[in-house]
Amino acid sequence: MPSVAEIFETMAWGPAPEAAEPALAWLDQHGRRFGHFVGGQWRAAEQTFEVFNPANRQVLAQVGQGSSADVDAAVKAARVALPAWSSTPGHVRARYLYALARQIQKHSRLFAVLETLDNGKPIRESRDLDIPLVARHFAYHAGWAQLMAEELPGYGPVGVVGQIIPWNFPLLMLSWKVAPALAMGNTVVLKPAEFTPLTALLFAEIAQTVGLPPGVLNVVTGDGETGAALVNHADVDKIAFTGSTEVGRSIRQVTAGSGKRLSLELGGKSPFVVFDDADLDGAVEGLVDAIWFNQGQVCCAGSRLLVQESIERPFLDKVRRRMAMLRVGDPLDKAIDIGAIVAPSQLERITRLVEDGRAAGAEVWQPPDACPVDGWFYPPTLVTGVGPASELAQVEVFGPVLVAMSFRTPTEAVALANNTRYGLAASIWTQDIDQALDVARGIQAGTIWINSTNLFDASSGFGGYRESGFGREGGREGLFEYVRRAPGLRGQLSVLSSGEATTSHGRPTTDHSLPAIDRTPKMYIGGKQARPDSGYSRLVYGPGAQVMGEVGEGNRKDIRNAVEAARAALGGWTGATGYNRAQILYYVAENLAARSKEFAARLAELTGADGVAEVEEAIERLFTFAAYADKFEGSVHQPPLRGAALAVPEPIGVVGVACPTDRPLLGLVSLMAPLISMGNTVVVVPSERYPLAATDLYQVLDTSDVPAGVVNIVTGARDDLAKVLAEHDDVDALWYVGTPDGRRSVEAASVGNMKRTWTHLESELSIESLPVDDALREATQTKNIWIPWGA
Ligand code: NAI
Repeated sequence: MPSVAEIFETMAWGPAPEAAEPALAWLDQHGRRFGHFVGGQWRAAEQTFEVFNPANRQVLAQVGQGSSADVDAAVKAARVALPAWSSTPGHVRARYLYALARQIQKHSRLFAVLETLDNGKPIRESRDLDIPLVARHFAYHAGWAQLMAEELPGYGPVGVVGQIIPWNFPLLMLSWKVAPALAMGNTVVLKPAEFTPLTALLFAEIAQTVGLPPGVLNVVTGDGETGAALVNHADVDKIAFTGSTEVGRSIRQVTAGSGKRLSLELGGKSPFVVFDDADLDGAVEGLVDAIWFNQGQVCCAGSRLLVQESIERPFLDKVRRRMAMLRVGDPLDKAIDIGAIVAPSQLERITRLVEDGRAAGAEVWQPPDACPVDGWFYPPTLVTGVGPASELAQVEVFGPVLVAMSFRTPTEAVALANNTRYGLAASIWTQDIDQALDVARGIQAGTIWINSTNLFDASSGFGGYRESGFGREGGREGLFEYVRRAPGLRGQLSVLSSGEATTSHGRPTTDHSLPAIDRTPKMYIGGKQARPDSGYSRLVYGPGAQVMGEVGEGNRKDIRNAVEAARAALGGWTGATGYNRAQILYYVAENLAARSKEFAARLAELTGADGVAEVEEAIERLFTFAAYADKFEGSVHQPPLRGAALAVPEPIGVVGVACPTDRPLLGLVSLMAPLISMGNTVVVVPSERYPLAATDLYQVLDTSDVPAGVVNIVTGARDDLAKVLAEHDDVDALWYVGTPDGRRSVEAASVGNMKRTWTHLESELSIESLPVDDALREATQTKNIWIPWGA
């Protein structure tokens, strides 16, 4: 070891190791062998596998490989515990969560060291970021348990929740999943990642210590097979998953049609955008946090540097100088910046992607002799000379590899930023607030950091747009992943029910002057009536099986045209103000009211039900969503930093809608109105049996200033057309009301671009009581824009 005098000469860092002994002693206490935590007890594992320290390749412990019998026992324990836990008063649940938070704080160093041993991340990070955030997460959600009755009246837990988490933030991901689930009264079966199960086992022990009732939290360790057993278990009500897009996709596929709720937090390829007026030194430090934090094994890592062309060269010079100073090495050394890669398979993947890029012509720069040779390390890497479509610019490397590209204008920056199938996060660096917020609105991602990066807090929802998945974790918005309306407490959309409806129009009779029977309405696409591509029509029958008319038989091509029209209209409609959209929805209501007699007669004729009431309810619903167009506003989160995070609801984009059979006008309006009021454009497949109720609406839409392409209607076989919508990669979300088969088919088909789906069984949903707040939430996705302030 050099003397102090020599260190003064060279200014080299001396070692500052954190002791591993307390964590190793804890492993020894367990004989370095762990079973599963089921029903409050340790359950011996029949098979085990080895868990390694990635910094030195030594075996840390033997951990159970959960079988389907283990998973089954855990799900049973969670089911048994559910009634008591879900009816435990919020205050009592809050006390448990608070106790967990306190225990984590009290054992924070043990948790941090164990995390670093298991995962390879620098102790500075596990000690200063992971573990404090875990404690904050439990404390914050203790608050929501306390407030649930006041703040979420009418909601109850989802039930037994299966949670599958990755290895990059083992305990933090546990807290993101377990804290809100328990706060809302669910019981949990958690499967940690096979590379990093140790802190979850320590957490289980702590849950035992605080006396968490048996079965409320169960931990089954194992690999993907154990995860799959949990996903496939028939008695699990919801799956929450964080991990690779590939596995997320397979989970979507196998849960399709099962009625299981699902939230997915998947990969990313997040842009880090630097404008020429940015504080460049600040941006370089930000970049270090964005891509070299946790060895770049971060789903929202700023892995794509987009730098304005005029400063590209000086900025990259600064980046290289800074990279040369990063220290890669023993993660337990407190002066280390970059630790070890979690496993050899990940190291191989990173190496392969970089070498393939190099072979394809990319320039790869790494600081000389950066890495120790003992464990699984990879040096900080800068890649230049790649095109936006190259593999390295598109694929999630999940390692300390930064890919740099340049842009000229803000518009080009936004286009490049969005040139990815993902949409998890983005970081924007500029001193110009107008530019920052403008670009923040333009980038399609769930989290945007302005002049900052990788900020996380329990108060602010985190989650993706597009193929980065769906669902939010954290904040008030994250709670809705773990609640459902208690039966019998559905929010009422409308105060009118058919029985109560009164109208001056009187009940229509069937001897009205109806349009001639042989009229054949076309599709409604891009604001125009279009002939069906198929050249076929289908007959429409009334209640007594008499022929009422014909409508076009829509096919794949009609859907394609409708989606194109909806996409073309999206920019203008999303950009319109909420006030403007409200005016248009009121106008639709007004014009429907003007023709209510005709619509009521038509509905009565078609369905044999009370048409007057249905028209009145549809009008009221249009009013409701017109009212919300400028009132569903989001919130301002107050994370513990100098600044705020603006949670802004944004439209999802082009949404496909498959309508229920009965109450054809009300069904269509109830699904269309929330979507367009929030700025989405829609392709609607109306009631298959009563499509004339929709086709009559064309003129109403035309006369109400609804811009062409905002609403498109394709008549025909609902389940076939819904499947085409689900398969279409330019449709961003799908709402479906129909049959179990149809639901399974659309959920499975939606995996292509990881569409968000909102599905209901016709037999279970009464469209008149579709909850307003659910519809608004499903019509939007929240973007959190973090704005630090202060000099
Ligand atoms: P992975 O997606 O296979 O693993 C995540 C979790 O899912 C683990 O607990 C695993 O045991 C479980 N799992 C695997 N197969 C499953 C199945 N069929 N059913 C249910 N659960 C299953 O991720 P992996 O292989 O560890 O990493 C591969 C790549 O995935 C990384 O290089 C990275 O690109 C990405 N990744 C992204 C993460 C993120 O947070 N977005 C986290 C981890 C990985």
